[in-house]
Amino acid sequence: MSANRDALAALAREACGSAHAPYSGIHVGAAIRSAAGVTYTGTNVENAAYPLGNCAEASAIASGVQAEGARFRIAETAVWALDGAGRAIPISPCGGCRQRILEFATDGSVQVHFPWRDGSLKSASVDELLPYAFELPDPQAQ
Ligand code: THU
Repeated sequence: MSANRDALAALAREACGSAHAPYSGIHVGAAIRSAAGVTYTGTNVENAAYPLGNCAEASAIASGVQAEGARFRIAETAVWALDGAGRAIPISPCGGCRQRILEFATDGSVQVHFPWRDGSLKSASVDELLPYAFELPDPQAQ
C-alpha cells in the first residue's frame, strides 16, 4: 500500500501546480485511483463569486465520472496543498468533499491520504473521516 500511497500523494502534489486559487492562495491537488485502476487528478478552481469555487476533490471526481461514467468508483485517494510560496501545508478533505468521496468510494474502508500538522502523511478511511454519514436509502430495498 505504501508505494500507492506515496505515488498518489506525489500526483496530488503535482496537481497543485494547475490550481486557480487567486483568492485564497491555497493551491490544492487531489489524486484518485479508481477501482478500474486509472488515476485521475484535479485542482481547486476559485471564482470571484466565492461560493462558486470548486474543491480539488470535486474536480478529480468529475474527471473520473466523465471517463468511466456510472461505473466510476474511488479505490484510494490523496490530497495535497501548497501555499502561495509553494510550501506544503497541512490539509484534509473538507466536510463537503468527505461526502463527495463517500458517494464514489467502493466502500467505507477506502483510504484517504493527506499531509497532516505533525508533518506526516496520514491515512484515514472514509468511515473514519465521515462517521454517521448521510446516504440515500437503497430503492431496491423498499
Ligand atoms: N479546498 C479544496 O480544494 N479541498 C478541500 O478539501 C478543502 C479546501 C480549497 C477550496 C478553496 O479553493 C481553498 O482550498 C481554500 O479554502
